Amino acid sequence: MVTMKKLSNPKCGLKGEIQVPGDKSISHRSIMFGSVAEGKTVIHNFLMGEDCLSTISCFRKLGVEIEIMEEAVIVHGKGWDHLEEPLEILDAGNSGTTTRLIMGILAGRPFHSVLIGDSSIAKRPMKRVTEPLKLFGTQIDGRSEANFTPLSIRGGNLKGIHYALPVASAQVKSALILAGLQAEGVTEIVEPEQTRNHTEKMIIEFGGKIEKHGDTIKVEGGQILKGTKISVPGDISSAAFFMVAAAIVPDSSVRLKNVGLNETRIGIVEVMKKMGASIEIEEHSKEGEPVGDILVQYSDLSGIEIGGDLIPSLIDEIPIIALLATQAKGKTVIKDAEELKVKETNRIDAVVKELGKLGASIQGTDDGMIIEGKTSLHGGEVHSWGDHRIGMTLAVASLLTDSDVLLEDAEAVKISYPNFFEHINQLLRK
Ligand code: S3P
Repeated sequence: MVTMKKLSNPKCGLKGEIQVPGDKSISHRSIMFGSVAEGKTVIHNFLMGEDCLSTISCFRKLGVEIEIMEEAVIVHGKGWDHLEEPLEILDAGNSGTTTRLIMGILAGRPFHSVLIGDSSIAKRPMKRVTEPLKLFGTQIDGRSEANFTPLSIRGGNLKGIHYALPVASAQVKSALILAGLQAEGVTEIVEPEQTRNHTEKMIIEFGGKIEKHGDTIKVEGGQILKGTKISVPGDISSAAFFMVAAAIVPDSSVRLKNVGLNETRIGIVEVMKKMGASIEIEEHSKEGEPVGDILVQYSDLSGIEIGGDLIPSLIDEIPIIALLATQAKGKTVIKDAEELKVKETNRIDAVVKELGKLGASIQGTDDGMIIEGKTSLHGGEVHSWGDHRIGMTLAVASLLTDSDVLLEDAEAVKISYPNFFEHINQLLRK
């Protein structure tokens, strides 16, 4: 059911501390690696968002026993060879990560499977994964020459490949690494730009081997992985909504606890610092996936230019960075971000249209957007477009508007942040 949520300006700052939910990318991967590893994997702070629950449901259909307990999620992996041909269609829901990464696993399995998702997934390009997977020797078909779901896969007998990725995408890279782990010989993947490296880090956690030389990743096939213990850090992409909220709502001071600070994900910290935000990092641990607290206070901000190889490190944060830019003095230019057009929605169109309705001075370009600040925002009726990050961006915007914001399909936030509205209320009560 599509709901309309009324959001009123609280006319006070955000104060206090919260622990944002577990990282979405790492949660997906922990289920996937746990499923193909041998032995038990215990996952703490797993993200119970709808996307990650879709991953659990797919792996259960592949015969993997996965227990959801109060304190942890437990995956009873039995190794690659024990994944079973599914009796039902695998449904990835709204999740691009599930759809793309699971293909890398299924590509190496000697059975048939069919993969679908929701109406958003049905529009997202899959050829970027299916084409290189075919080079490994797997059979994949789907609409528009295997570019769109439903996709059907008959895997097995893979041979390692050397492949230069045409787009900077961690999802594509990860799918190819997962296929490479099952292929005969060595697989080499060249990245045009560094993207998030959670897959590479997790292979090491599961006792596997992977090398990186310059922009080339090298993985040997036939690796047996061993179950392990994973503690998922807080998701910086979720923390981003409160980092920005604290920076733009007067009289705010917020501490975000135990957030993942992986070097390939912290572009937003760099951007906020450049814009003049008062932001401090207290790092607790550097090993594996680094973790720490992020402290942000209300600040005077100035517009900047954001582009180049910084983009992959903040690609999911661009909607909320656009809102940040509406409150910064001068012009902010976001460029080299054409990938935004093929996310859960066309996020250039969605951000420009919906923030525009609230009075932002924002213009879409071919590869990003141009925002003029500082503007006062007004109330209005807006839509999440069924996209969690658009919904949360608009909810944060409502903390500044002169009258109420009516947000249609606010439910979308449950994809990655089920307790998002509780956390807003918690920080407003302090
Ligand atoms: C993700 C990678 C990114 C990101 C997505 C999650 C991942 O997508 O936008 O939300 O978990 O690997 P691309 O790799 O397609 O850019």
